[in-house]
This record gives sequence, structure tokens and C-alpha cells, in this order.
Amino acid sequence: MNDDERAVKRMARFPAAWLDELRSRADIVQIVGQYVSLKRNGHRHWGLCPFHGEKTASFSVDQERQMYYCFGCKAGGSVIQFVMDIERLEFQDAVKHLADQLHMPLPQLEEDPEYQRRRTQRDRLLEANKEAARFFHQTLFTPQGQSSLDYLKRRGLTDNIIRKFGLGAAPAGWDTLTKHLQQQGYSLEELRLAGLTVIKEAEPAATDPATGEEIPGKPRRAFDMFRNRAIFPIIDQYGNVLAFGGRALGDVQPKYLNTSDTPVFNKRLGVYAANLLKKERNLKRVILVEGYMDVVSLTQFGVAGVCATLGTALTPEQAKLLKRFAPMVYLSYDGDNAGQNAIMKGLTVLEEAGVPARVLQFPDKLDPDEFIRRDGLEGFERLPALTPESYRIRRLREQYDLSSQEGRTDYARACAAILQKVDPVERENHLQELILQTGFSREVLLAQIGVNAPSVGKPAAPASPAAKPRFSPNRTSPAATEEERDEELLISIFGTGRVPTDIATEEDFRDPLLRNLYLSLCEGASAAALAEEQVEEMTRARVSKLLLTPPVEDTDQLIRMAQDCLDRNRLKRSRAELSALEARLSSLSGSDKLNALQRAQQLSAQISKLTAHRS
Ligand code: UTP
Ligand code: MN
Repeated sequence: MNDDERAVKRMARFPAAWLDELRSRADIVQIVGQYVSLKRNGHRHWGLCPFHGEKTASFSVDQERQMYYCFGCKAGGSVIQFVMDIERLEFQDAVKHLADQLHMPLPQLEEDPEYQRRRTQRDRLLEANKEAARFFHQTLFTPQGQSSLDYLKRRGLTDNIIRKFGLGAAPAGWDTLTKHLQQQGYSLEELRLAGLTVIKEAEPAATDPATGEEIPGKPRRAFDMFRNRAIFPIIDQYGNVLAFGGRALGDVQPKYLNTSDTPVFNKRLGVYAANLLKKERNLKRVILVEGYMDVVSLTQFGVAGVCATLGTALTPEQAKLLKRFAPMVYLSYDGDNAGQNAIMKGLTVLEEAGVPARVLQFPDKLDPDEFIRRDGLEGFERLPALTPESYRIRRLREQYDLSSQEGRTDYARACAAILQKVDPVERENHLQELILQTGFSREVLLAQIGVNAPSVGKPAAPASPAAKPRFSPNRTSPAATEEERDEELLISIFGTGRVPTDIATEEDFRDPLLRNLYLSLCEGASAAALAEEQVEEMTRARVSKLLLTPPVEDTDQLIRMAQDCLDRNRLKRSRAELSALEARLSSLSGSDKLNALQRAQQLSAQISKLTAHRS
């Protein structure tokens, strides 16, 4: 692709009708069949999911609806989505790839002014970032970057690895980078949006009302966000420079300064070193660590496929992203308490995203960087990759006092709850150890594991792969339809206490539990209290999950999400009622018919209002 084509690609899109034709001409069974061997069963085809490692088929393709879905990892979508995921392509390239196979000529691309404006701004900010990265990197090898270079060298980094990660130096001056980028034609506003420049607004001169003294004014000032720090550029899998992390050279707070979220960067969506992950072929696992330095250091020692979250806990979006790079994730967080607690949370996130996980546990509270410097690559490779259950059981062992009968009993109970979810072979491994540790007999332990097992007293689960959901500890009674999911999401949002409950009404909730929760929230009940007050264990788990995990942090975004859910559900329900009404209309007469017609009119008005609202 030459630069002209790239420019066109940025500013234009395929006509919708042509895309529809492409979707209908592409037979999803045939396309997927190139990668996965499929077996027909009813109107679905089944195979082993190419997006997560599995031994029984839970990946299904629905020929009629031209969709695929994996019941294991919950990947799913249209034929275009499939090509994007399997070939790791962006939308437009996936479309071209398909069009090529179907011998469909590419259409004239359409221009969309709003899209173009947004894309143009995005491109400008990305170019500014790229220029900044170049500037930081070059500065590292000049006198202005000497202190950063010394720092990186002191931490044991080689020139090669510094180049591989494009590390850099932010000079100590106030506005060296800002001036440089202004000279390149970037406006202060663009630099502020990119998070590279901080602007302090002017303060006019004033008189102190108390003393009558003159307070001098200050002019508007622009200075560099990153000053006198070693720079780690954050680059995505397409090579875009999204943001920067800046390490203080000494004992300055904060230790790391990071670009806040900008129009091109959201720290919850990406991972550090995605650009290098993308280049790794046939990765067996991604090593996920906490810090920039851990990534750089492990890579220098020869570990492949290392990346880090960006100073937040692992998000579902990041879990999904990692799945595109490798079939398994090794959580390799710091050996301190914070790191170990983060592993427990991370395991849940990975499990919910259907990503198989292992845990590397570093001894002596070391972080991966400190550990590999101490014990070398061999030491690193000797670390056992713990299954999630092994890791959870290890953690339990630290919590209970195994020298007392009471401690051993509670420990046995807690382990049994975990062992319910593992296959018989792994269960057997743990069982032997558990017998030795607790002194309970095999029969007792097996009974404990079995007594609470969800299948006891219920008919055996059917053999179809669809009926065998993956274990996910936080999901009890999963919401089946989009409507139910939206109701749940609304409760999560109102549970934050930051969105006024009066934008909804009781009628917006059909699920009786959710409706009651909503009413209690209206009365000002706290989320935690509501969760605790549930007697039934399954319900308590569901309510806790809903109320204690807000979907996003930003309040404005929460409000928008809530309004979205409400509109979507109201629209769906009005439409359903209207079509039911219309179906009945011919069989009605007299005042019944009149009432029905009136109601139908009401509904139509509501529907057009909602449709206008949504577009
Ligand atoms: P750590 O405190 O574990 O630091 O933070 P580290 O990675 O071991 O750093 P070094 O070895 O002292 O240089 C882990 C990650 O948390 C984020 C950064 O992404 C960091 O890499 N963090 C930490 C910040 O964003 N700001 C901070 O002040 C500290
Ligand atoms: Mn460290």
C-alpha cells in the first residue's frame, strides 16, 4: 500500500449496500472452514475454537444467521469479524481480504465528513506522538539526555534493548519538546490534546480585597508534560505511538508519570509492548507483568511475548486483546502482596473472557525484573506455571492455620469448593496433597467436593457442547438476552450511586429481583447493604457482582450508558408490544379495537421519539 492509498483508507469507507452484498456472498461456513474443521449438527456447525485452546468443540457457526460464536471464550460475530480476528487485520483490510477471495471488485469509497474530521484529528495527534517519540529517543544520545541514559544503563539495559523499545529522554527544560513540535507545525491545542503539553491559563492582575495589595498577573504558559524523565513510548499493535510513561530518574514522585486518556489513548484498552507482541509468530503464551521495566528487562533476558497493563488492574478489554496474540496468558505479577492480590482478580477477569491462564509466582516479594536479574533466564524458566486452581489453593494455605483442627477443617472446605471446578485428573493431584495436609480421608474429601457440586440432585448435563458452559465464578444465573443484560447493566450503573435513579422507572425492570434492587436503590439503600441482605448464596453472588463492579469509572460515561440501555430496552419493548397489537388487531372489534388502535398510536409515537433520540 502506498501513501496515497493509505490516505484514502483513512478518510473513506465502503458503501453499506456493498458491504451487505459482501456479507451475503461470503459463506461463513466455507470461510471459517478454511481454518477450523467443522461438523454439521442441525443448522449449526461445530469445531474447535481457533481463539482459545480447547479439546471439546464449543465453537459454532450458524449458517442461517451467518454468525459464529464460541460458547467457551464467547468470541463471536460476523464473517468480517472472524477474518479480523483470525488474520489479525483491521476492518478495512479484512473486508479487502474477503472481497479478494470472492472476486468482488472493490467499490468506490465514500467520504464521510464527520468521520474524516475525527480521523484527521486522530492522525494529527498520532503524528505528533510519533514525532515526540523520535525526539525523546534522539535526545537520549545527546548531552540533554545523558542523565536518562545513565539511569537506563544503571538499570542494566543494553543499547540494543533501548533501541528495540524506542526508549528516550525528556530533557530537563520547561518546554523543549513543546517548542520543537510547534516548529513542526503542531498547535498548542493539538499538543495539549495529545497530552504532551500542559497549559496553565493566564491569571489577570488583581487587588487583594483584604490588604489592598496589588497581586501581579501571570501570562498563559505552556510547558512539557514530561521533564527530566526516562521515557517509555506506548506503541500499539499497528505501530501507532499512543502515549508515554516517564520514569523519574531519582526519588521524585510520582515514580512514573503517564499520559492520561486522550482522543487516541485509553489505558484500559491497550497493553504496553503490543507492537512487539504482534511481531511474535506462534506465541504459546503471553507473559503479563505489572511494570514497564519488567517488560523491558524480561525481554532483554530472552523471554518472548512479554507485555504489561498500564498501571490499572487487568480489564476485560485487555484480556480479549491478549487472546488475539496467544492462546494462554501467564499472570506474572510482583511477588508482593499487592501483586498477589492482583493475580486473584486477574484470574477472574481472564476466566470471564474465556482466556486460559497460568500463574508465575516470584519468591521473596521480588518483581519479575528483580527476579530475572537475580536468578537469570534459567531461574525464570524453572518457575512452575501454576494452574488457577493450584494458585488459589496455595493462597488458601497461607490463610489458614494448618496446625489447628479448626484451621485444617476450614482449609479443607475451602479447597473442596475450588476442586469442584477442576477435571478429575487435576483433582486427583490436589487430593493426595490435601489428604496429607488435613488428615481427612479421601472419602470424606470427595464427599465434601461432591456435596456442594452443582450437578448433585439435578439431571446430568447434556452432552452437547453448547450445554456445557465454562466455569466462571462470578456468573451465577447468566443473563440470557440482551434485554436482561441491559437491565443488569442499569443496576450496576445505579449501584454506583452516581447516576440519578429517576431517569428510569420501575417499569424498566422486568426481572423481579432487579426491580426490587432498583426500588431499594431509589430509597437510598447502599450497594453493599443490598448485596449482604440476600439470603440465598447464588443470589448474593449475582447481586454482589452487579452492585460492586461499576462498568466504567467516568460519571458522564455512566450516565450516557444508562440512557442508552433505557432507550434500547424501551424501544425494543415498544416495538414488540406494537407488533403483538397489530397481529391481534384484525380479530378485535368495537371499543376493544378502538383502545388497541389508540395504544398502537401511542407506541408508534414513542418509537419514533426513541429512534430520533438514538440516532
Ligand atoms: P511498580 O511500582 O511495581 O514499579 O509499578 P516498577 O515497574 O517495579 O518500576 P521500577 O522497577 O521501580 O522502575 C508498576 C507499574 O505501575 C505503574 C507503571 O505502569 C509501573 O510500570 N505506576 C507505578 C505508575 O503509573 N505510576 C507510579 O507512580 C508507579
Ligand atoms: Mn521494578
